[in-house]
Amino acid sequence: MTERTLVLVKPDGVQRLLVGRILGRFEERGLKIVGLKLVAVDRTLAEAHYAVHRERPFFEGLVSFITSSPLVAVALEGPNAIAMARAMVGATRPHEAAPGTIRGDLAMETAQNLVHASDGPETAIAELALWFAPGEIVDYARDVDRWVLSPVD
Ligand code: CMP
Repeated sequence: MTERTLVLVKPDGVQRLLVGRILGRFEERGLKIVGLKLVAVDRTLAEAHYAVHRERPFFEGLVSFITSSPLVAVALEGPNAIAMARAMVGATRPHEAAPGTIRGDLAMETAQNLVHASDGPETAIAELALWFAPGEIVDYARDVDRWVLSPVD
């Protein structure tokens, strides 16, 4: 099933010059970039994105981290895009993330784990609506898809 999901390359990814490498992994895999922007996140957006963690002790740290420097927001599309992006990102805690995943290869700390990816279909819809205005997600055809996607889908 074709899905769309939100991935954030968080401030540590931008500051560590890893944006190209991280986006490249998704692109090489075959996921289609349908939205992309650099965002200086304000407190309102940060609190909305992390609303589910509002009662956690690390909430203030999360908001302060994600507003500390720009991040890159990307909307990705493809069959099972939500599960695929989550698998590629790896476990939240980098010491539990498998080698070959982004966090398993590039991250050391939970609070600076480089990437965020929507964790399910409802979250993906809500997060895409939060990060991208109408018109910022673009429908287009990719010629390469005849070599990447199943012709029966
Ligand atoms: P993310 O996928 O962006 O979603 C929630 C984030 O909370 C998670 O990545 C981590 O960066 C962060 N997080 C989770 N647990 C902790 C923790 N114990 N301390 C600090 N940050 C955390």
